[in-house]
Amino acid sequence: MLKRYTSLKRAAASVGFHCWLVLCFFFFFSPPFSTDVNLTEFSEPGIFNYSTLLLNEDKDVLYVGAREAIFELSMKNVSVKKNKVIWKVPDTHITMCIQKGKSKETDCLNYIRVLQVFDDNTLYVCGTHAFQPVCDYLVNSFKLEEKQEDGRGKCSFDPEQSFTAVMVDGELYSGTAYNFLGSEPIISRYSPSQSLLRTEYSTSWLNEPSFVYADVIRESKNSADGEDDKIYYFFTEVSVEYEFFGKLLIPRIARVCKGDLGGQRTLQKKWTTFLKAKLVCSMPELNFVFNVVHDVFILKNEDWKETVIYAVFTSQWGNVGLSAVCAYNISSVEEVFSKGKYMQKATVEQSHTKWVRYNGIIPSPRPGACINNNNRIQNINSSLHMPDKTLQFIKDHPLLEDPVLPVGNGPRLITKDVNYTQIAVERVQALDDNVYDVIFTGTDKGVLHKSVIYGSEVHIIEEIQLLRYSEPIKTLLLSSQGRFLYVASDTGVVQSPIAFCEKYATCEECILARDPYCAWHLDAEACVSIIQDPVAARCLVQSLDGDAEKCPRGKERLPKFAVCPPGPSDLHIHWQVNGQELEGAVQEYRQGLTPRGVFVSSWVRQGGLAKNSQYQCTAASRVGSETSKIVVILGNRDEDSTRTSDFSQWRSALTDHEKLLKSWEKAWVGLSTLHGPTISKH
Ligand SMILES: *[C@@H]1O[C@H](CO)[C@@H](O)[C@H](O)[C@H]1NC(C)=O
Ligand SMILES: *[C@@H]1O[C@H](CO)[C@@H](O)[C@H](O)[C@H]1NC(C)=O
Ligand SMILES: *[C@@H]1O[C@H](CO)[C@@H](O)[C@H](O)[C@H]1NC(C)=O
Ligand SMILES: *[C@@H]1O[C@H](CO)[C@@H](O)[C@H](O)[C@H]1NC(C)=O
Ligand SMILES: *[C@@H]1O[C@H](CO)[C@@H](O)[C@H](O)[C@H]1NC(C)=O
Ligand SMILES: *[C@@H]1O[C@H](CO)[C@@H](O)[C@H](O)[C@H]1NC(C)=O
Repeated sequence: MLKRYTSLKRAAASVGFHCWLVLCFFFFFSPPFSTDVNLTEFSEPGIFNYSTLLLNEDKDVLYVGAREAIFELSMKNVSVKKNKVIWKVPDTHITMCIQKGKSKETDCLNYIRVLQVFDDNTLYVCGTHAFQPVCDYLVNSFKLEEKQEDGRGKCSFDPEQSFTAVMVDGELYSGTAYNFLGSEPIISRYSPSQSLLRTEYSTSWLNEPSFVYADVIRESKNSADGEDDKIYYFFTEVSVEYEFFGKLLIPRIARVCKGDLGGQRTLQKKWTTFLKAKLVCSMPELNFVFNVVHDVFILKNEDWKETVIYAVFTSQWGNVGLSAVCAYNISSVEEVFSKGKYMQKATVEQSHTKWVRYNGIIPSPRPGACINNNNRIQNINSSLHMPDKTLQFIKDHPLLEDPVLPVGNGPRLITKDVNYTQIAVERVQALDDNVYDVIFTGTDKGVLHKSVIYGSEVHIIEEIQLLRYSEPIKTLLLSSQGRFLYVASDTGVVQSPIAFCEKYATCEECILARDPYCAWHLDAEACVSIIQDPVAARCLVQSLDGDAEKCPRGKERLPKFAVCPPGPSDLHIHWQVNGQELEGAVQEYRQGLTPRGVFVSSWVRQGGLAKNSQYQCTAASRVGSETSKIVVILGNRDEDSTRTSDFSQWRSALTDHEKLLKSWEKAWVGLSTLHGPTISKH
């Protein structure tokens, strides 16, 4: 914010060529800052299992799906409830549920598990509804339309069972179980206008999966070859490809194409684009494999090719007590899906089957690929036109042999004695102008870890007990504008700031935390968050390598090497003559007044002056911009003859100027000592 601005015109004070001294100066001043640290909580007596969260940042609200209730909370303060709707199961359903052997107190209730944006005014919601899933529309007035749509394939029957769903362009993609027993896994798409598209019921497609996450990547955007958007699914399933004593779990990444309509004869109403691969997170040097994926966060980018997928893992053998975070480039994912080798089931000995690499001829178009311009040229405009050969192949070969490998070939973060359950990642621009990925991980004990990646090294910034009780964090959500973190558990919802800079009392503590959100404010002598006021011009010390030497010592308030970004130090002035940029022939003088203020003057030298011209100077800074217009009319006197006297006049003007500055400086010293800090001279 621009707080104060002054401009002084020394030009055209008198006629003739006195006006070659065109001066222009600006004063920028920083705003105050504010901090707030406390956690805000929400829960209602008698209501449990707050497991589904949905943010609407335009409306400033957080929707919460719990057991038999949906809430609308203020995003800025979740303890402020705006709306609530109760959604219970009718008694007849409960009776049926109990008759089927389920518990009245826990199973035969309605757990809200789908909460998605249907359109601007409507949410699509589904609940387990006493083991008989039902979906409905929640309209603006926060009332259910009571349409009671069949929720099979969209929502799980069992509230304990793993589940994922995402709404993409009005169609709901979910991963769940299709039957009461929970034995028929399904990845499906529900669209109001088409029939349900789903996976084949076969262990080579899905084998006892635990669904973790699903989301869309908009690969059609700016695509030269007419590619389709893709929906990626993440889950852990029982491996078919490894011989193992007992069940060996394998983390998977699978995908389908948005434009898939199923096959005409083969794979009717089934995915023709379902492909899956192993998601590797291991420490090759120790031969240690993290084989259970618990949550995924997709760090999206304007350019989808820059997308990074983050995932948290533990090992199937929980007693090892290790959790890991691995990151995957979308380009590596894309490479595997578009070029990877397929696996196939081969019968060895009598009835024993084994999965091996498929080395035969692969039909064309490539099985499982989305429709693109190449296919369209061949008159294949949709999956309905795909040749039977391709469809038959993908039906039998949904598994790829090539795995998706993590960035750096290993985990970004490994932590001992914790079980991570959730992950969220934010890319932050620090004061050094570099971007860093900050990783938030939630544990099964209600604890939050915040870590940041510095090159090849990872640093855990802090560990905070977010939940009141030691219980798993079920959902972790990051807002983009509000700068909050939302956490949901069985007992409630907690809102937390994403940084707790103010808890660091000294500059050393602030620096040693190496938190890219925090910096030491020299003037206020406090550790502050750099994102609460992103364009503020403040004199801040941040050193992400944890070099506390950068802190001022003793009475010294402003060390010589303090950087003051994004403060007024970035201020620069540029000139235009009759609307044209003036380059060269410009001089500048700058003086730091207080850590927060800078005085800059700029003038055009003689060579840069032209007759009857309009000069305009603009001061630009990340703090703001100001423009000053000066009209200069050059007289007709012979310049050469008067140059010497001009120079002396110029000098005296500058001397006046210097005097003025000195008095200002004194005034500022006086003023700023009222607030504490002393003036610095660089
Ligand atoms: C936040 O917590 C501090 C103590 O840690 C307390 O003094 C302060 O009043 C709290 N602020 C709010 C807004 O609740
Ligand atoms: C619902 O919350 C209760 C109370 O915390 C917990 O015991 C139960 O396991 C939860 N059920 C589900 C399905 O999450
Ligand atoms: C949130 O709202 C509650 C109730 O209105 C209020 O007591 C509390 O101070 C607010 N918290 C914050 C951080 O604004
Ligand atoms: C595919 O689309 C093109 C152009 O839209 C059309 O000319 C062609 O007939 C379509 N082919 C089929 C098989 O529908
Ligand atoms: C992933 O992307 C980053 C940045 O684009 C690049 O530096 C890195 O080499 C890539 N890693 C892999 C394994 O492709
Ligand atoms: C992690 O979870 C496993 C399985 O639930 C459990 O046995 C183990 O004690 C947990 N470890 C920690 C450190 O909480």
